[in-house]
Amino acid sequence: MHGLLFAKCLPHCLCQPMGDPVLIMSSIKIETVVLDTNRCGESPVWEEKSNSLLYVDIPSKKICRWNSLTKQVQEVIVDSPVSSVAIRQSGGYVATVGTRFCALNWEDQSLSDLFSVDKDKKNNRFNDGKVDPAGRYFAGTMAEEIAPAVLERYQGSLYALFPNGIAEKYFDNVDISNGLDWSLDHKVFYYIDSLSYSVDAFDYDLHTGKIANRRSVYKMEKEEHIPDGMCIDTEGKLWVACYNGGRVIRLDPETGKRLQTVKLPVEKTTSCCFGGKDYSELYVTSARDGLDTDELSRQPDTGKIFKITGLGVKGIAPFPFAG
Ligand code: BGC
Ligand code: BGC
Ligand code: CA
Repeated sequence: MHGLLFAKCLPHCLCQPMGDPVLIMSSIKIETVVLDTNRCGESPVWEEKSNSLLYVDIPSKKICRWNSLTKQVQEVIVDSPVSSVAIRQSGGYVATVGTRFCALNWEDQSLSDLFSVDKDKKNNRFNDGKVDPAGRYFAGTMAEEIAPAVLERYQGSLYALFPNGIAEKYFDNVDISNGLDWSLDHKVFYYIDSLSYSVDAFDYDLHTGKIANRRSVYKMEKEEHIPDGMCIDTEGKLWVACYNGGRVIRLDPETGKRLQTVKLPVEKTTSCCFGGKDYSELYVTSARDGLDTDELSRQPDTGKIFKITGLGVKGIAPFPFAG
């Protein structure tokens, strides 16, 4: 069940406040944690109270919950592609299913619609989504793909479902709405439209949920391929999963520089989140759709969930939907 894939040592230079820099050898370890392979694993979310990782397999229409203590996976199958899942403050979960924001009762596996979007775009579906620090569920849409990253362009939009049950559209003309997160002071919203090959930032007003002043904070390098899911760490740096790039990269959104690259043994790394005890483990989802037989045999772990430990940084707990 658990495969230790590879470990390597990287020197970390930690500067102590009053003393000399201390060189610490920290060892990064990458393991697979769930045996099942996902066609397109996405939206990893750590749920502290159940010691579990939530995630989805979009085309398989599955919402999964892997218990890190029992190592068991439970899943709920829904009626349409499910692209993101989040914790709901009042109990259960919320998810983006097809073009609907839905509530999910895990116990009886029932899904109920909260709000529908893109009613005029029959070929659209939601993609990545995440809850902001005030409990609003942000998620964007895209046209259904002919093949991975091949689709009718500019069909997507970014929305947020507010705790009052109303969703608002932020902007349209999106290709593949993807990774999102907020700065630690809640004053910046980070966003990825994958085919722009850029990580963007907006000024964020947590009180109203309004965004302004879009700019790019990181342009992807050629070998990093397509920016997909992302999460922030406690130092305010961004971790971006690179689809087709087989890696997660750590970026400094202040300087626009890449600080670190962690390569994984699969090409289609789709998203990441911190979890585990103290949020010191980085969970990375991956996909197997879009690979031919040869590629699949060269990447036997593709579609699995990976756990990276020994990074020396931590993440933050996910925010629950407040509606
Ligand atoms: C509908 C429910 C249905 C569920 C099935 C929801 O969107 O509102 O009536 O049971 O989908 O997954
Ligand atoms: C989407 C996939 C897409 C990939 C690459 C993912 O977030 O769900 O369908 O192929 O991004 O852009
Ligand atoms: Ca994604």
